[in-house]
Amino acid sequence: MRLESKVAIITGAASGIGRATAELFAEEGAKVVVVDINSAEGEQTVTNIRSRGGKARFVHADISKEEDAKRISEETVKAYGQIDILVNNAAAFVFKRLEEATVEDWQRALSVNIMGTALCTKYATAHMKKVGGGAVVNVGSVHGFVGQPGYLPYAATKAALVQMSRNMAVELGSFNIRVNCVCPGAVLTEHTLHRLKELGSTVEEMGAQHPLKRGSRPRESAAAILFMASEEASFVTGAFLMVDGGYTAQ
Ligand SMILES: NC(=O)c1ccc[n+]([C@@H]2O[C@H](COP(=O)([O-])OP(=O)(O)OC[C@H]3O[C@@H](n4cnc5c(N)ncnc54)[C@H](O)[C@@H]3O)[C@@H](O)[C@H]2O)c1
Repeated sequence: MRLESKVAIITGAASGIGRATAELFAEEGAKVVVVDINSAEGEQTVTNIRSRGGKARFVHADISKEEDAKRISEETVKAYGQIDILVNNAAAFVFKRLEEATVEDWQRALSVNIMGTALCTKYATAHMKKVGGGAVVNVGSVHGFVGQPGYLPYAATKAALVQMSRNMAVELGSFNIRVNCVCPGAVLTEHTLHRLKELGSTVEEMGAQHPLKRGSRPRESAAAILFMASEEASFVTGAFLMVDGGYTAQ
C-alpha cells in the first residue's frame, strides 16, 4: 500500500474527483479527512470508505474562511496526530464571460480557488514541517491552459494555481514538502454532465474533442493525484501533470 500510515486531507471530497481520491487514498492505507461544505455527501464519502475497512472522518468547512481553513488542520491533528498530505481539490465553478462576470463572481472564484487553497496550505504545511515533510497536490484544470469563451473567472484562478504550486514548491522545498498540480480535462462527474446539458452538448461530442476520443473517469484523476502524493514522486515538486486525454496537446 502506497500511503500506509499517512494522514491525508482532501478538500471538496463530497463528490466527483475529491470523493474518488478519498476512496483511493483510503484503499492505499491513508487515514483520510474528508472536507466539504456539503455535510450529507461528505458523510457519505466517509461511509463508503469505512464500509470497505478504511479510516476516514468528515470535517465540515468552507475553505475560503480563514477560521475554517485553520480548523481543518487542527481537527486533523487532534484526530490522527499529524498531517502528511493535503489535496486542494475544492473549487468554485464560476463560468462567466468577461462582460457578465460581476465583482461577486470574481470574489467567489478568487476566495475559494486561490485564497482557500493558500489558507489550507498555510495551516497544513505548518504541521507537515513538524513531521519532517509532506506533499501538497493542487487540482488545476485544462482551463488554466486554454482559452474558451464563458470560463473567465474559473480559468484565471486555475492558471494561477499552477504558478502558486511553483512558488509554494520553492518556499517549502527546504522543509521536504513537495507541491505539485494535477490538471484534469473533462471528467465525467455529475457536475460535468449538468454542464453538458446546459450547453446542449453530449458526452459523445465532448469525448470527440480529445485525442483519446472520450472523457475521463474521476478515478483517473485520483490516480494522478495519488502518484503526486506518494513516495513514487519523491523528486517531483513544482510540476504540473495534465490528465486530459491529450486535449491540450492538440
Ligand atoms: N469535472 C471536471 O471535468 C474537471 C475538469 C478539470 C478540473 N476539475 C477540477 O477538479 C476539482 C473537483 O471537481 P469535480 O468535478 O469533482 O467537482 P464537484 O463539484 O463534484 O466537487 C467539488 C466539491 O467541492 C466542494 N466545495 C465547493 N466550494 C467549497 C468550499 N468553499 N469549501 C469546501 N468545499 C467546497 C463542493 O461542495 C463539492 O463537493 C476542482 O478543482 C475542479 O476545478 C474538474
